[in-house]
Amino acid sequence: MRIVLLGAPGSGKGTQAALLVAEVDLPHISTGALLRAAVKAGTLLGKRAKTVIDRGELVSDEIMLGLIEERLAQPDVKNGFIMDGYPRNLAQAEALDELLERIGQPVVEALQIDVDLEMLIERISKRAAEEGRSDDTEEVVRKRMRVYEEQTAPVMEYYARKGLLSRVLGDGTVDEVFQRIKGVLQIRAA
Ligand code: AP5
Repeated sequence: MRIVLLGAPGSGKGTQAALLVAEVDLPHISTGALLRAAVKAGTLLGKRAKTVIDRGELVSDEIMLGLIEERLAQPDVKNGFIMDGYPRNLAQAEALDELLERIGQPVVEALQIDVDLEMLIERISKRAAEEGRSDDTEEVVRKRMRVYEEQTAPVMEYYARKGLLSRVLGDGTVDEVFQRIKGVLQIRAA
């Protein structure tokens, strides 16, 4: 099972990925988490990435591909993975296809989590108050939403054209969304 979770900032990709990995026993690959770990560790990559993340922009495709390539080379991904935060634009989607083809793990299923803007803002504002993530400020969130619309939303079409896209509504409780996701994955696997 090789799944990429797609959706706007705050749509629940990370939350649902964590539940899925517990259910299917596969590694969770989150590029946002990988980048935040590099920032925390103070690596050169982390220092470069922090400026970009705090502006709500995308870290360069080259850096991201290096990061993903390194992660996919690890043995725990041999049976698959649940990925969130990558790919985030068409160039990344094509690069991921090429990379997976090269390592003999082609075909990714894409799952889009749809949440309306008002609810996204509500969730992120709550997280900002509770956790203080540096890119959750009002101005940066607005920028992240714009970047999503312009660069990431087309990735959905990319997978739809390949017949690999499923969509679920991301409103309701975390568990309600998870049940929908499980339903979709079971239906497609049948
Ligand atoms: P990343 O960490 O990927 O951030 P994001 O896509 O903006 O996503 P979020 O983490 O905000 O939301 P999510 O959809 O995971 O939702 P979550 O489960 O957390 O990326 C951060 C930055 O890193 C980017 O802006 C970019 O700069 C850089 N980056 C990362 N990947 C990159 C790439 N491939 N290329 C270039 N740059 C890259 O949920 C949000 C909140 O809502 C949580 O508090 C959660 O508890 C709550 N919540 C979730 N579900 C529910 C629910 N059903 N009901 C109520 N609350 C809920």
